[in-house]
Amino acid sequence: MSKPQKSLIALLAVFLLFFGFVVVRIGVAKPAATVKVAKIPAGEVDPAVWGQYYPLQYASYKKTAEELPSPTGYGGSIKVQKSEMQPEITMLFKGMPFSKDYAEDRGHEHAMEDLRESKRIGPASKGACITCKTPYVEQAYKEMGWGYANKPLPEMLDKSKHTVACANCHDPATMNLRVINPAFIEAQAKRGIDVTKASREDMRTFVCAQCHSEYYFEPGTTKVVFPWEKGLKPADMYAYYSDKPSGFVQDWQHPDSKAPMLKAQHPDYELFSTGIHGKSGVSCADCHMPYTRKDGQKYSSHQVTSPLKTLDASCSPCHSQGAPWLQERVKIIQDQTFEIQHMAGQNIARAHEAIKAAAVQPDVDEANLAQARELVRKAQWYWDLLSAENSMGFHNPSQALNTLGQANELAHKAIEAANRAAGIKQF
Ligand code: HEC
Ligand code: HEC
Ligand code: HEC
Ligand code: HEC
Repeated sequence: MSKPQKSLIALLAVFLLFFGFVVVRIGVAKPAATVKVAKIPAGEVDPAVWGQYYPLQYASYKKTAEELPSPTGYGGSIKVQKSEMQPEITMLFKGMPFSKDYAEDRGHEHAMEDLRESKRIGPASKGACITCKTPYVEQAYKEMGWGYANKPLPEMLDKSKHTVACANCHDPATMNLRVINPAFIEAQAKRGIDVTKASREDMRTFVCAQCHSEYYFEPGTTKVVFPWEKGLKPADMYAYYSDKPSGFVQDWQHPDSKAPMLKAQHPDYELFSTGIHGKSGVSCADCHMPYTRKDGQKYSSHQVTSPLKTLDASCSPCHSQGAPWLQERVKIIQDQTFEIQHMAGQNIARAHEAIKAAAVQPDVDEANLAQARELVRKAQWYWDLLSAENSMGFHNPSQALNTLGQANELAHKAIEAANRAAGIKQF
């Protein structure tokens, strides 16, 4: 081989090494932490048993019991009534259990305990409430199908020995991610998504979305249904409910306005999925379960909580601005969202009052009154989607402000329609 040939080969080798490395880096941008897979029997739901084989994940999972405030003043892991910051909540949910007890969420370790202690449950409560709290739901659904949802809640509580646990998100035999909430599996199937064929990246969001999503109970059966057939945006879900699916008309009737109301439930996945992170392929686990190291071993933190406690680990793999800058960005987004949410909520409370006042007028115009009720129902749905969502706008800042702006405008229109119904002159 001649000298130039040798140099060429050497050069080629250097090139290959370099580009080969780059390709590998992209391909494994988020390498899974490596673990030896243990044989956990099917049906084992006790996290302490799983924890014997996976001590690092188990230790961090147990830390979801920690109770700390969030540095931005929103969210946090302490059980405080939401109405402390937003007194209008008591008025908006008048006549239904959320006006009595509506606390800020805390960690997974408390999920079953908070369900048992909730003042929102009573003798009429149904088994469906366990769906997003415990791994027992897998066995319940296997044995009874959706029948478990209509059983008395105390009966199902007795059998739910564990709070959100390993088996909710992992296949015990392979440790692959899986979802077990039948409502999520059905809702995704209706959108053409087969969750058993989902990519690892999608599963890092789906395991969370199976619980952190909006739902309602089907009348008669109490089956849990996600209202996604027309799409995941506020208007899509509102249109779905407007068709009165399986005879579902309302969650309750507001006692002042007599409007048929909807209660939104934590639509974290819905808001996230159309935001910049959702659209860029970032998963819930990227921020909420960052990679951590202990004694040289890399693992996913299972202390699922506010990423503000782990800004460097959660955000710095993608952002170079540093923790103080990122925290400031989150705070600005949340302050701006809260201001409009509070404003819209107060205007919707005024709308309920205006409708109540109009309805007692002897010559009230029924068509305008009906229109006012429809408008306040819609306004509160738009407001509640953000109020019930857990990130105070961060998961999707522009959609948050747009939805709240719509809620505010609808509240004003409801007040105008109520005034027209009452024959009050408006300018
Ligand atoms: C809320 C869902 C959820 C729960 C509950 C959960 N995990 Fe995980 N777990 C994940 C996700 C997401 C990953 C990352 C998987 C990936 O990227 O492939 C993971 C990864 C793992 C891994 C692979 C190594 C690593 O650290 O990335 C092990 C082992 C593991 N979990 C064990 C457990 C054990 C043990 C429990 C119960 C004590 C548990 N998990 C509870 C979601 C969960
Ligand atoms: C089986 C249902 C279930 C699954 C799966 C689940 N969650 Fe939760 N999550 C809950 C419930 C219920 C609560 C509220 C518990 C309470 O307030 O007692 C909660 C609370 C939280 C909180 C608040 C914690 C705090 O410190 O305030 C965060 C953050 C969270 N979940 C994120 C996630 C993420 C991210 C995933 C996926 C990796 C996930 N959850 C998977 C049901 C679930
Ligand atoms: C880009 C990072 C990021 C992604 C991706 C993300 N979140 Fe969050 N999440 C945040 C931040 C930041 C907050 C605000 C925390 C605070 O106020 O302390 C938050 C708040 C929350 C909370 C409330 C926590 C609390 O303190 O009460 C829940 C629940 C939650 N997210 C669930 C999810 C779910 C479910 C997904 C996926 C569908 C998701 N998040 C995706 C960053 C993220
Ligand atoms: C896996 C990658 C990834 C992670 C992890 C991540 N981000 Fe991002 N983030 C992005 C991408 C991609 C964008 C889109 C803009 C861009 O390309 O820079 C973005 C945009 C943003 C923006 C501007 C858009 C907006 O919504 O206002 C903020 C603020 C932000 N991220 C904060 C955070 C915070 C805080 C965390 C951690 C809690 C985080 N990000 C974690 C990838 C990521």
